[in-house]
Amino acid sequence: MTHEQAHSHAHRPEALLPELADVEELIRRHLAPDEPFLEAAAAHALRTGGKRLRPVVFLLLAKALGQRPGVPHIVVAAVLELCHTASLFHDDVLDRARVRRGRETLHTLRGNREAVLYGDHVLAGAFQLLADLSRPDLVALMADLVRRVCAGEIRQWSRRGRLLRREEYLAIVAAKTASFFRTAGVLAGRLAALDASHADRLGRFGECFGIAYQIGDDLYDIVAPPRADKSTGRDAKAGILTLPWICLRDAHGAQALRDLYFKAGGEPDALASALADARMRAAVEESAQIASRLLGEGAAFFEELPRSPARGALAALAGDLRAKIIRLASGKGP
Ligand code: FPP
Ligand code: MG
Repeated sequence: MTHEQAHSHAHRPEALLPELADVEELIRRHLAPDEPFLEAAAAHALRTGGKRLRPVVFLLLAKALGQRPGVPHIVVAAVLELCHTASLFHDDVLDRARVRRGRETLHTLRGNREAVLYGDHVLAGAFQLLADLSRPDLVALMADLVRRVCAGEIRQWSRRGRLLRREEYLAIVAAKTASFFRTAGVLAGRLAALDASHADRLGRFGECFGIAYQIGDDLYDIVAPPRADKSTGRDAKAGILTLPWICLRDAHGAQALRDLYFKAGGEPDALASALADARMRAAVEESAQIASRLLGEGAAFFEELPRSPARGALAALAGDLRAKIIRLASGKGP
C-alpha cells in the first residue's frame, strides 16, 4: 500500500463512524414488520439496503463540527435513510424500474399498490421516529425536504419531452436529489446549535454534493451497460432530458439533439450509437466537468471548518465521487 492509499484509507467513513452500526440497528428495528402482511415488503427493504450515503454525509458533517453523535444524531441519520428508502419505492413505480441495487424492485415483486403503500408506511414511520425527539424544528426541516423532493419529481415529469434549459435541469436535480444532502447539512448545523446562516452554508455543501451525485447517476443511465446493477437507459425513453443532452444541444444546436436523442428514446441500441458520436462524447465529458466544478465549490464550504479526520473523510468522499464520474465519462466503465 502506498502512502497515499494508506492516507486515504484512514479517511474511509466506516472507520470513522462507529455510530453507523447504531443507525443500522435502528433502521432494522424500525423496518421489522409489526403485521404479518407487511413481512414480504419489510424483508425486501431489509435485503436491499444501499450505501447509507445520506447518514454518512450527515454524521461526518456533525463530527466535522466537533459534535459527539448522540441519540438525536442516530435518529436523524436513520430518518434521512428511511425517507430516502420510501422515495425509492415510489420512484421505481413511477420509472417502471425493474432492478435496483442488483435486485428486483419491490413493485416488480409485489405490485405497484403494495410498493406505493409500503413507501407511505415507511415514510410516516420515519416521521414518528423523528417526532419522538420532541424537536418540532427538525420535523419541519424534514417535512420541507419531502415537499421539495416531491415538487422536483413533479416538475421533472411536467417537463418531459421538452427542451430543458440547463438552469431548469439543475433546479430539478437540486430539488429531487440534492435536497436530501442539503437538509443533511442544515440538520447537522442545527444539532450543533449553529445559527441559521451557518447551517445554510453547510446545506450548500450538501446541495453541491447532491447535484454532482445526480449528474453522476444521469451519466450512468447513459453510459452503463444494459445489464448493470440498476435499470439504465430509461431517462431518454421516458423523455427526460438530462445534462449530457442539454450540453449537446447547447454546443451543437437542436438538430444534433434531435438526431441523437430522439433516436435514443425510441430504439434499444441507439444510446450506444449516440455515444459513438464525438459530439455526444464531448457532451458527456462536459457534464462530468460541471459535476467536478460543483464538488470543488462544495468543498470550499467545509474547508472553512477546522481540520479533522471527519473533514478529511468528507473531502475523500467528494474526491471519490469526482473520480467515479470522470471514469464513467471517459468510457472506462463504472
Ligand atoms: C431518483 O431519481 C429519485 C429521487 C431522487 C426522488 C424520488 C421521489 C419521489 C418519487 C417522491 C416521493 C418522495 C418521498 C420522500 C416518499 P432517478 O429516478 O433519476 O434515479 P434512479 O436512477 O436512482 O432511479
Ligand atoms: Mg428512478
